Amino acid sequence: MVSQRIKHPGLAQRIMPAEQAAAFISDRMSVGMSGFTGSGYPKAVPLALAAHIEAEHAAGRDMRVKIWTGASTGPELDGALAKANGIEMRLPYNSDPIARERINRGEMDYLDMHLSQVAPVAWQGFLGPLDIAVIEVSGIREDGSLIPSSSVGNNKTWLDRADRVILEVNSWQNPALEGMHDIYYGTALPPHRVPIPLIRPDDRIGQSSFRCDPDRIIAIVETEAPDRNAPFSPPDASAAAIAGHLLEFLTHEVGRGRLPASLLPLQSGVGNIANAVLSGLLDSPFENMTAYTEVIQDGMLDLLDAGKLRMASATAFSLSPEAAERANAGMTRYRDKMILRPQEISNHPELIRRLGCIAMNGLIEADIYGNINSTHVMGSRIQNGIGGSGDFARNAYISIFMTPSTAKGGAISAIVPHASHVDHITQDVQVIVTEQGLADLRGLSPKKRADLIIERCAHPDYRPALRDYYRRAKEGSYGLQSPMLPGEALAWHQRYLDTGTMRS
Ligand code: COA
Repeated sequence: MVSQRIKHPGLAQRIMPAEQAAAFISDRMSVGMSGFTGSGYPKAVPLALAAHIEAEHAAGRDMRVKIWTGASTGPELDGALAKANGIEMRLPYNSDPIARERINRGEMDYLDMHLSQVAPVAWQGFLGPLDIAVIEVSGIREDGSLIPSSSVGNNKTWLDRADRVILEVNSWQNPALEGMHDIYYGTALPPHRVPIPLIRPDDRIGQSSFRCDPDRIIAIVETEAPDRNAPFSPPDASAAAIAGHLLEFLTHEVGRGRLPASLLPLQSGVGNIANAVLSGLLDSPFENMTAYTEVIQDGMLDLLDAGKLRMASATAFSLSPEAAERANAGMTRYRDKMILRPQEISNHPELIRRLGCIAMNGLIEADIYGNINSTHVMGSRIQNGIGGSGDFARNAYISIFMTPSTAKGGAISAIVPHASHVDHITQDVQVIVTEQGLADLRGLSPKKRADLIIERCAHPDYRPALRDYYRRAKEGSYGLQSPMLPGEALAWHQRYLDTGTMRS
């Protein structure tokens, strides 16, 4: 039966099973898929493609594809294709554990990119041709325009760039999503770029649907499948302490007149701590807040429900099952308070700088000067990727990074003498927060930053060793701008690899 959601008569003729649609994808093709933090990704074609690849491998034939997405997806996409060893190259962000293992074993190429830069780089041609797009939508209108689903990501670009298009029409997605999206078609390559006319987070500058020439749509697959809605763990004492320090800081900034009482548009990273901070804002004195961010997570929904957050602009939902249910039930109400945009716009440096976002992101480790490693454990093992943290950190009004002061049951210090990999240089990092305290690094030179980070952020178990290293670095360093002992700078990481702990 043809779903009520496919209103274009010609396209209704192209409905087929996922297996038949997946057969359009062949060895070494580049495939642009929808999907951003577990929402809006195709759920049937990638599974069918994985089964097809497994059959090819069993028959002794090589088959692998290049997968481009918005960000992370779900087990039916990254998980299934990685399990089948069907991904030759993946970009721009991954959090799937099977894919992560393959990348770290050197079995899969991974191009970790700033999320705002994927669409322009694709247009510049640096990624090569895009053979096929596989995009989840929530409906197709009579005129053939496509109603986006629970994430926008790079879909506009994949639909424009791909030679051929496969659509998944997912009737699990709430029909009330229609009208929530703002798809801006005004981006261009230099020398034709013009200012993006977005002045406030709630400005709508585009249209509510994607355009795509129906002649390029070769297959439509109907699905009724939920997004991957991962539960958030309730904030633990450490997350609550981080949220507390951050709220105190923001209150202080408002008190000093450096922030308005409604704050500035909030950007909140992914993960439990970011969510805990948003929950903390529920009990804060701030009213009429806005968010200009990448994902709308549970904490944002709570803030909207409580009337503390006036509106949220993002590119995707990233909700727990309970919050997804709540969002679905109230979608008509939320539609006026939320805008989903292409990630090229949600993460655009020009707009982040103009709006003056308050960026709050997680980290893996920070060094005593405030260089941040967000991606590589022990300098070499990828965790997820840089995501949008670089887009926001460099351009934010205040760039905040937060983490528990230790990892792996205390065996690892998140504050180290020297970052084993750097994603965010010290100039892009203004505030670091751990459960121990908050270091406001604005206006401080490297040595003053080091004193503050060690004393405010490091765990007491690691503070004496950091002080000792730093004291000796100041005595024996080649230069005294950012004192460093090269032979010792990564010794903590080596000790962990040798003994399972950074403790000496
Ligand atoms: N050394 C080794 N492992 C570390 C570590 C360290 N210094 N710090 C954290 N980890 C591990 C944790 O142990 C955990 O591993 P597990 O899954 O095996 O338990 C994992 O990294 C996640 O850490 P967690 O403490 O749960 O924090 P999180 O969910 O807040 O994630 C990042 C932290 C850095 C991984 C995450 O914020 C991220 O991917 N950031 C980059 C992308 C980004 O910022 N996106 C948002 C932009 S809009």
